[in-house]
Amino acid sequence: MLEKIEKVLKEAGDWKAKNSEEIEKFRLSFLSKKGRLNELFDDFKNVPNEKKREIGQELNKLKAKLEERFAELQQSKSNSAGLDIEKPDVFLPEINGSLGSLHPLTLVRKRITEIFARMGFSSEDGPEIESDWYNFTALNFAENHPAREMQDTFFVSKGKEQKDDMILRTHTSNVQVRLMEAKKPPLRSIMIGRVYRNEAISARAHCQFHQVEGLYIDKNVSFKDLKDTLLHFSKEMFGKDTKIRLRPSYFPFTEPSAEIDISCFICKGEGCNICKKTGWVEIAGSGMVDPNVLINSGIDPEEYTGFAFGMGIERIAMLKYDINDIRLFFDNDVRFLNQFQGA
Ligand code: DAH
Repeated sequence: MLEKIEKVLKEAGDWKAKNSEEIEKFRLSFLSKKGRLNELFDDFKNVPNEKKREIGQELNKLKAKLEERFAELQQSKSNSAGLDIEKPDVFLPEINGSLGSLHPLTLVRKRITEIFARMGFSSEDGPEIESDWYNFTALNFAENHPAREMQDTFFVSKGKEQKDDMILRTHTSNVQVRLMEAKKPPLRSIMIGRVYRNEAISARAHCQFHQVEGLYIDKNVSFKDLKDTLLHFSKEMFGKDTKIRLRPSYFPFTEPSAEIDISCFICKGEGCNICKKTGWVEIAGSGMVDPNVLINSGIDPEEYTGFAFGMGIERIAMLKYDINDIRLFFDNDVRFLNQFQGA
């Protein structure tokens, strides 16, 4: 019996296992119900009484050693550098390569910020919940002027006594006034953010969208500076062959005012659906800051002049990426968002 125990111990000690299958074989041969250890325990019944104590001890030692050896084999396999590694293999190709992507509005926002930063424009922020003063009155919208109705407004609270109405800003132009109040000219900044209008939601209009506002105030700023700045921006954003055209327009806060069109970069002016066969697409409102706005913001219009412009970020993104429904920006449908990976 002792010889048998000795033999099993030696075999177990010599056992080599390179992979899970071979380790399992070890377990089956030695430790399972029908394995060698149990066989010996069965034989134990036939051991004469006077030897039972000694052999019993040896058998228990063997059991402990076999279990130890089994644990050892398992351990050495997980440490091995062979192919059968159960630890994650860093060299395997990735299973799910999706890292997510930036939202198209973020991409356009970043690009706009980059282009203007290179022309010396800083980025500024302002509140989305705004008083009537900053959103309208300071921007030269007269009380009861129909221009207030051009921008259907969401009201947050009705002003009482000395207090103003609080609203959701209808444009980013509110930040112009705040900026001119807070800092002395020269000022050269863009202001990007979300705006709200009480509009029926459709493929072309939404009750929330984003704008970028631009403001340049200094001595002797001219209409030519406005034109050159927006021409440079348009070329950077839509391609170096892009042309711009200015159409006379009206905004309470600029005089003179102009709408900026870019030459259609899809059909190159031949006429397509994007430009409605005109060869031009509108991208911005702009103009020379009205002297009343400068006065309302604490700047002397005799000393300083400036230009301002405002454009819709969704509109730029829709043109740039050929997106035909503004609602897609807010749906968070991954089939839409995934298309901007690596853009
Ligand atoms: N605030 C105008 C709008 O929401 C856009 C705009 C037009 C901004 C002319 C300007 C500007 O700064 O000069 O429609």
